[in-house]
Amino acid sequence: MSINVYAGGVGSPQLPKGKGEQCVEATPEMQRNHMNYLLHKRDQTMHQGIRTKQYSLIECIDCHVSKDEQDNFIPINAEGQFCQACHSYAAVSIDCFQCHATTPDKDKQASATSLSHSQEMLAQQQLKDFLAAQHPTEKIHD
Ligand code: HEC
Ligand code: HEC
Ligand code: HEC
Repeated sequence: MSINVYAGGVGSPQLPKGKGEQCVEATPEMQRNHMNYLLHKRDQTMHQGIRTKQYSLIECIDCHVSKDEQDNFIPINAEGQFCQACHSYAAVSIDCFQCHATTPDKDKQASATSLSHSQEMLAQQQLKDFLAAQHPTEKIHD
């Protein structure tokens, strides 16, 4: 990808500042490789040679979400918000938030990690279908 979103040069997206002192890894590492920490186990095998710990998407959102004037959380994938600002600049689109909550407010939105058992079984199946559709030639390992 030729677009450099990391240089902070003219036209770089303005990102809401993260909470706390630092990210789960050094910022330059996160700028380049955050996706490798996030992708489902199944997808990680695509990135050969990269050993990754997996981090929770919920934690990312906890630190990187902003609030509006009414003190409500703004969905992390809304226009101008942390994940979205950078991705729209880099023309990346992610489909994670059809299943994962976009705010830390777990009551407002179903979160992939706060599902009942039967919902979880269904979600697991949907997840497999989703991953299979993305990479039709590969088998999914649990
Ligand atoms: C079809 C629904 C679905 C989609 C789409 C989806 N996920 Fe998930 N995800 C789940 C479910 C269900 C779990 C919990 C069960 C598990 O760990 O297998 C989960 C768990 C996770 C976890 C570990 C636990 C957590 O809550 O953080 C991460 C990280 C994650 N997903 C990231 C992503 C990312 C990044 C994307 C987009 C590239 C994505 N997911 C897209 C359903 C989905
Ligand atoms: C403990 C709070 C915290 C957590 C958890 C966290 N971050 Fe961060 N993140 C930060 C801080 C602080 C920075 C430094 C830059 C800033 O102020 O935004 C940062 C920087 C980043 C950057 C570079 C931003 C830039 O300005 O170029 C990315 C990308 C990023 N984080 C993604 C993630 C992802 C993905 C996750 C979940 C796996 C995550 N972060 C979890 C606090 C956090
Ligand atoms: C500093 C800019 C920046 C920020 C902030 C950022 N991303 Fe990204 N993200 C990118 C770029 C650029 C790519 C594409 C990298 C590539 O294709 O080499 C990407 C790719 C991804 C991918 C992989 C998409 C795919 O289909 O391969 C996921 C998943 C992802 N980002 C999740 C997130 C999440 C979740 C957040 C917010 C917590 C976030 N990103 C914040 C720049 C950013």
